[in-house]
Order: sequence, then C-alpha cells, then structure tokens
Amino acid sequence: MKAPRGTQDILPGTSEKWQYVESALIELCKKYNYREIRTPVFEHTELFQRGVGDTTDIVQKEMYTFEDRGGRSLTLRPEGTASVVRSFVEHKVFGQPMQPTKLFYIGPMFRYERPQQGRMRQFYQFGIEALGSADPAIDAEVMALAMASYQELGLKSLKLVINSLGDSESRKQHREALIKHFDPHREELCEDCQVRLDKNPLRVLDCKKDREHPAMKTAPSVLDYLNEESKEYFEQVKSYLDAMEIPYVVDKNLVRGLDYYNHTAFEIMSDAEGFGAITTLSGGGRYNGLVEDMGGPETPGIGFALSIERLLMALEAEGIELPVNEGIDCYFVALGDQAEKEAVRLTYQLRKAGVQVDKDYLGRKIKSQFKSADRLEAKYVIVLGENELEAGQANVKSMETGEQQEVSLADLVTYLKNKLAGGK
Ligand code: HAM
Repeated sequence: MKAPRGTQDILPGTSEKWQYVESALIELCKKYNYREIRTPVFEHTELFQRGVGDTTDIVQKEMYTFEDRGGRSLTLRPEGTASVVRSFVEHKVFGQPMQPTKLFYIGPMFRYERPQQGRMRQFYQFGIEALGSADPAIDAEVMALAMASYQELGLKSLKLVINSLGDSESRKQHREALIKHFDPHREELCEDCQVRLDKNPLRVLDCKKDREHPAMKTAPSVLDYLNEESKEYFEQVKSYLDAMEIPYVVDKNLVRGLDYYNHTAFEIMSDAEGFGAITTLSGGGRYNGLVEDMGGPETPGIGFALSIERLLMALEAEGIELPVNEGIDCYFVALGDQAEKEAVRLTYQLRKAGVQVDKDYLGRKIKSQFKSADRLEAKYVIVLGENELEAGQANVKSMETGEQQEVSLADLVTYLKNKLAGGK
C-alpha cells in the first residue's frame, strides 16, 4: 500500500524540521499578537462555493467533496480563510470588545491538483487573518509578518509583489473593460474562459491554458481603473511598507486565484536559484465584504497563507540548515535483572524531573546498548550493573568529554540535571 498521490508521510528526521518551523511561526505570531484558531478540516461545501467563489479553479476542479452518511455535501477545506470567517460570524466574535480580531492557523488543506514539486494534494498552510480593520497600516502589518515568516528562518532570496484590485466600484469598471477586451477573442479562448468571461472575467487572467494568448499581455490592468479612494488606499499601504523599509515591487497583472479579494493583493516569491518551477511561496490580500457574504455585519478583513512544504523547499534551495537537535540527553545502560528494575525506576524519575532519557527494551548486550546510545547521540550514558547496584551507585559517562563519574543513585537526578544545565 502506498500513500495517495500528492500526499506524503513526514517521518522522524524530517518531522523535527516541521516542528521547528511551526514553533518559529507561532512565536512570530505572538510578537504580532495573532492568536490561534482551529477550525474543522471539513466544512459544508456551500461555504467554499460562496467564500472562495464558484468560478474559481479551486471550487470547480480541485475540491475533495463527498456526501456523508446523512446525505450532506461536505468538503475537505482547500484553504483557511472561509472557515475562519465562518467561525468569526458563527461565534459573533465581531461583538467582542477587542478589535480587530487577529488570528492564525496551521493545518492541512486539500486540493485536487496535478502534483509536482511544491504542489501537493494535501499540504500544510500557516495563515493569518485580521478582521475588523480597514486601516492600510494593517495591510502592511500582514505583509510584514508574511515576510518575517521567512526572514526569521534565515531566508533572503525573497520578493514581495503587490497590487491593488480596488474596491467594488473600481472592479466593476475593470470588469467591463475586460469583457470588451476579450470578447473579440472569445472563440479562441478555452471553454472555461468563455464561461468565465460572462461570469467573472478577472478569472480569465489567471487561466493556466490561455496564459500564452496574445490578448493576455494587452489585457487592461485593474490598476488603471482604480477610483480615487482605492488609489489613495494603495498609496497609503505602500507608504507604510516604505516606513518599515520593506522592499516590494508592484505587478499590475497580479491577480489571485480566489474570488474574495479587493484592494491589496500580494504574493511572496522565491528568487533562489534552483527553487523549481513554482516560485510563489505565499499569497494573500484584503477581502472586505466576505464577512457580510457569510451573514455577518460589514467587517473588513485581510490575511495571507503560506505552505510549510514550499517554505522548507526554499530553505533547501538557499542551503539553510535549521538548528534542530535530534540527540537526547541520557541513555540508560543496565545489566542484570535487578539493575534493569532499578533502571526502569530511575528512568521514570529522571523523566519526571525533566531529563530526556531512554533505555534498551530489547534485552541487548552491553556493547549494543552503548551503540544505541551513540545512535541516539546521547550526551550522557548511565551504566548500572550488579556491582554498581550493590554499591548504590551508577557510572555516568559524558560522551562529549569521555569523563566518568560514580554517582550515588540517590543523587543521580540532581547530578544529571546540574550537568545538563552546564554545571561542573
Ligand atoms: P492561495 O494563494 O490559494 O491563498 O494559497 C496560499 C499558499 O498556499 C500558496 O502561496 C502556497 O504557498 C500554498 N499552496 C497552495 N496550494 C498548494 C499546494 N497544492 N501545494 C502546496 N502548497 C500550496 C489562500 O489559500 C488564501 N486563503 C490566502 C489568504 C488568507 N488570503 C487572505 N487570507
């Protein structure tokens, strides 16, 4: 049996890297005051149809949708924003005194995509959402946190690409311009785009099939249709990025693959050599109106998400080794039945005292037990044989210096705790 296509097992040796990255991201969220939210892995299908948009590739082609035994249509979440907004409305979080509501999440998402490096069918997203503020400074904060997610881990080859999609009035003007532009080429576009042109012409711009069509290059940019308010908003967002000295480039052709965006849209790309074909590390933007679409009061929102898989790929491409410690503190080597029993007791005591310790469970000879200690990169090996037991002592060997010490069993916990804390 093999894991399904587009999924992967994360085994020990790699899982430590995941833990390291996830802890770093959680720490970062603490600094920016974003708090964790956990939502279900599956939701009512309608949530994503309404939230993500039913003309998007995600909803049309990529969802894992199934009927449960009660005949409900459920979908494995393809992204986190719709669920967060649903939860925000369901629990009336908008009514809480502390606003904006700043949330983060980490968890698996599911999209039926063609798997390749950096594109999985199950992938892990870390994302943040800030709900309840239409201050352009929070757009800049979200982008600052997004960039810091990579920078804190040592990544350097990053490019922040931003655009504005404008407010609904600007988008309406742009929509009309797009229809006018693409309509003469209607027959040359793929079937999906012909439908998109009527339903949601902005989606034509991120079609994978029609990417090379000459009309794509000359398509009107939303930036040229921004009304004064939207222009001013975008200027302010940029000025806050400038104030933080966060470099960015404006790409007026940047459109995102989800329908809920307006105003700020952004992506972070990797510039690293050998990163592979997919260079987008993360993306996000503003989604004023989504909370209302989900039945809540008028509430602006902005957020972003990255996948841990692509973050780890970027670390590899830049040759960054995470300082993960796979070794353990102590290994207990015991010989003889009595010593074995005492070793079980002491191992338990050490663990309760906070010391990381393991022992043999295969009845191995002393030499093999030492080999296990080596494999586990134990800092100290505790040896307890019949003689030591009689003397009420254990032999503690530092694997780093080779230094050995007889330590009374009663003092063992204190002795090792002190040694591991760097004491003499
Ligand atoms: P998205 O651009 O669809 O946006 O996904 C965000 C990130 O998730 C991508 O940049 C990429 O790192 C990762 N990702 C997406 N699909 C895959 C895949 N198949 N395999 C590996 N990684 C993948 C969203 O999902 C929005 N909810 C982001 C957002 C939050 N906007 C506002 N708030």
